[in-house]
Amino acid sequence: MNTKLFSTYTIKDVTFKNRIVMAPMCMYSSQEDGHVKNWHLTHYTSRAVGGVGLIMLEATAVDPQGRISVNDLGIWNDEQLPGLSQLVSMMKEQGAKTGIQLAHAGRKATVPGTIYAPSPIAFDETYKQPQEMTQADIEKTILSFQQAAARAKKAGFDVIELHAAHGYLLNEFLSPLSNKRNDEYGGSSENRYKIVKEVIAAVKQVWEGPLFVRISAHDYQEGGMTAEQYIEISKWMKEDGVDLIDVSSGAVVPASIPVYPGYQVPFSETIRSGASIATGAVGLITTGIQAEEILQNERADLIFIGRELLRAPYWPRNTAKELRYEIEAPTPYKRGW
Ligand code: FNR
Repeated sequence: MNTKLFSTYTIKDVTFKNRIVMAPMCMYSSQEDGHVKNWHLTHYTSRAVGGVGLIMLEATAVDPQGRISVNDLGIWNDEQLPGLSQLVSMMKEQGAKTGIQLAHAGRKATVPGTIYAPSPIAFDETYKQPQEMTQADIEKTILSFQQAAARAKKAGFDVIELHAAHGYLLNEFLSPLSNKRNDEYGGSSENRYKIVKEVIAAVKQVWEGPLFVRISAHDYQEGGMTAEQYIEISKWMKEDGVDLIDVSSGAVVPASIPVYPGYQVPFSETIRSGASIATGAVGLITTGIQAEEILQNERADLIFIGRELLRAPYWPRNTAKELRYEIEAPTPYKRGW
């Protein structure tokens, strides 16, 4: 059968063999040095053998103070490069394209020492109170993203994704619920977007490849962001050179999220049609037929699969079978396929 899920997709000069993306998922398996471990080599390479088109590495810290936990993967120094390069080459050897999600946790960092955010408001009573970022802190952070992007290029990644979702630093600037600043980085949506705009510009100075941004398209709280409000910001991102918006939601403030199959797909659809930009859909997408519906109805361009790929590393192969689409076996399996 002809499927859209198993059709190729090209951005700039990078072609994914199908529309299946492994969603970024923290493994909390590094030590304090942020280095790639055998776990990462096994875990990610398995999904490459499983047939994923693009593997997006977990949130990888651009600054040690911006780690979600002390076990986060890191890309803040050159010693972290050999492990990342090895991981990239192992995934590529198995036919996958490779991406890395560059992240700063902002007020959700759980590391010793000072943590930083647009405004000095703790996420909730279990988190530390962050320090309000000065202009110098903002400049230093933009530089950290740029240096991380330069390292990602050296390591051989095909795609960079900026993490501007789930209540981490860039999301904290974008949402009026966490950004109470009175300077040019707070207030209007244009001002709240300013740091993201500057990170994009800094990254693009050292990175020519496909650039994704993950956003939280809904804050699930009165006075917070909605997908409709993200249309304007997505148009700016497009003008600034972002190729695709990976549309997630929530977690900028503690709020309950109504969860059901495909719960975030309408946000992807709203942004894709409203801003005329390519999008990725994510969130409780677990079957081929569901993915096919989203793509055929032009609600997204790529399908990000999270937990189902943890349960089933060979999800793309099983899904090809479900959709009666023939994919090639890995060479060592061919005799028995
Ligand atoms: C996640 N998620 C996530 N998101 C992100 O942008 N960066 C990250 O590092 C992580 N880490 C992470 C770890 C684990 C163990 C899970 C389960 C999830 C969210 C993930 O990318 C995805 O958006 C959600 O899991 C929803 O998609 P699924 O799992 O329903 O397909």
